[in-house]
Amino acid sequence: MAEYVLNVNGQDYTVNVMPDTPLLWVLRDELGLTGTKYSCGEGVCGACTVHIDGQAMRSCVIPVSSVGGGAITTIEGLSPDGSHPLQIAWIEEQVPQCGYCQPGQIMTAAALLAKNPDPSDEDIDGAMNVICRCGTYQRVRKAIHRAAQGG
Ligand code: FES
Ligand code: FES
Repeated sequence: MAEYVLNVNGQDYTVNVMPDTPLLWVLRDELGLTGTKYSCGEGVCGACTVHIDGQAMRSCVIPVSSVGGGAITTIEGLSPDGSHPLQIAWIEEQVPQCGYCQPGQIMTAAALLAKNPDPSDEDIDGAMNVICRCGTYQRVRKAIHRAAQGG
């Protein structure tokens, strides 16, 4: 076991875990931030996507020991009151079906918009590599365009 101080959603947390514990496990089991989802556990599906220093990262394959002082943002920290333009657009376009992949979709989209405020369909298709078993891809794309235009 080792002690780590993690900055999550603007707050510092101290955790005692094994160095190879995936960040996803720490977020969900140690900090109770269960908005970030576990699905494949192999870095393939994107359900577990969070931001580290603004980059979309797959937290199931990131050992907690490698996070260092990086600023982690989870779906809970994207906005204090659900008012991020993507969250508004997601509701307007009724994107979620079962909902399981959606935190990963939104966090991936948020990282995209932070770098590219008005992405083309091609930009969206290139960046949105999160698997959705419910097939919400068209709605995801529409909602990202809506958010880019102000929500
Ligand atoms: S659960 Fe992390 S990429 Fe699938
Ligand atoms: S909304 Fe069901 S997996 Fe994406």
